[in-house]
Amino acid sequence: MHAQYAIDDTSEIISPGVVIFRDIVRDNIQKMVAIAKDPARLRPHCKTHKMAEVARLEMEFGIHKGKAATFAEAEMLANAGVKDVVLAYNMVGPNIGRAATFRSRFPSVKFAVTADHEKPIAELGEAVSAAGLSIDVLLDIDCGQHRTGVEAGPRAAELYQILAKTPGLNAAGFHVYDGHQHQKDPADRAAAVNAEFAKVTALRDALVKDGFDVPKLVCGGTASFPIYAAKDDPTIELSPGTCVFQDFGYGNAFPDLTFTPAALLLTRVISRPTPDRVTCDLGYKAVASDPPAGQRLLFPDLPDAEAVLQNEEHLVLKTSRAGEFTPGDVLLAIPRHICPTSALHKQVFVVSDGKFVERWNVASRDRWITV
Ligand SMILES: Cc1ncc(COP(=O)(O)O)c(C=O)c1O
Repeated sequence: MHAQYAIDDTSEIISPGVVIFRDIVRDNIQKMVAIAKDPARLRPHCKTHKMAEVARLEMEFGIHKGKAATFAEAEMLANAGVKDVVLAYNMVGPNIGRAATFRSRFPSVKFAVTADHEKPIAELGEAVSAAGLSIDVLLDIDCGQHRTGVEAGPRAAELYQILAKTPGLNAAGFHVYDGHQHQKDPADRAAAVNAEFAKVTALRDALVKDGFDVPKLVCGGTASFPIYAAKDDPTIELSPGTCVFQDFGYGNAFPDLTFTPAALLLTRVISRPTPDRVTCDLGYKAVASDPPAGQRLLFPDLPDAEAVLQNEEHLVLKTSRAGEFTPGDVLLAIPRHICPTSALHKQVFVVSDGKFVERWNVASRDRWITV
């Protein structure tokens, strides 16, 4: 195994298990800060790790803001000591009341949610006002992904003005996520991101001219945050997620980014059913199965391995080197998509300097903590 993934003693690491290489995580955070130029510009998305310990590592590097997609993630961040949390999700149903509950449960945490429609805007305003509170709301801008948000244009301006005038709500800026900008060539990616961002700044400038405050723009993910980081705009915050752990999906897709996979799966050989097959205890209950079957894992020590069958608790690899393996042998694999992979594990095994040092809880894999 590559020296950076060496583990002296794996006897206490149960398989299948996620192993976090803490020194690589630190290195990835350092790279994130170097790209951002100032840790105060970073608001990393915690959906990738969902762990208080990772949020605290980021704090050690001066990163004190966080982004979340669920209340459990937001609560994990607040419990970890993050004092400024954006829940980048549009509130509906019980989440309207939960937003007010979160504000009263964590009064010292600066907290914002997103919105893109007048109905939840009105409901949220009523709920927080009834609780004697107020809440920051970011207008969710659709930069071409067409997942949520409104295009930067007249309708967005109208909604922002409604937000600003709704009692209980503070119009706090825009949420600008562009997860569809996956051009491999960084110049093509930059051109596409910049074209969308020009519409965003035009909207912002028009609102400011009309007397509205647009104090922050929460922008980007792993692929695009370097492009926003290069802009001289003090209202920009950068919200990469995946790069703290990195995975081979992003490694292949964005060769310009130099993050290193830091969360690997440890698996053991349980059988060698035929001369060219090795079966491991790494089924799809332990690794994200949103990538197609056969493309979910990369075995750095077994590059010719072809995943020919995966069941809930079994992974069958076809390899010319099958004869080298005996049941009990350990293999490490890099997941194609780390964010849903970490959500499948209650705890992870942390390795530093080649030694298994501790376990961390994947606290916000749950949908509900207390809020
Ligand atoms: C709203 C939002 N912001 C930020 C991110 C982080 O993006 P990435 O994982 O590409 O770094 C995501 C990822 O899904 C997201 O949905």
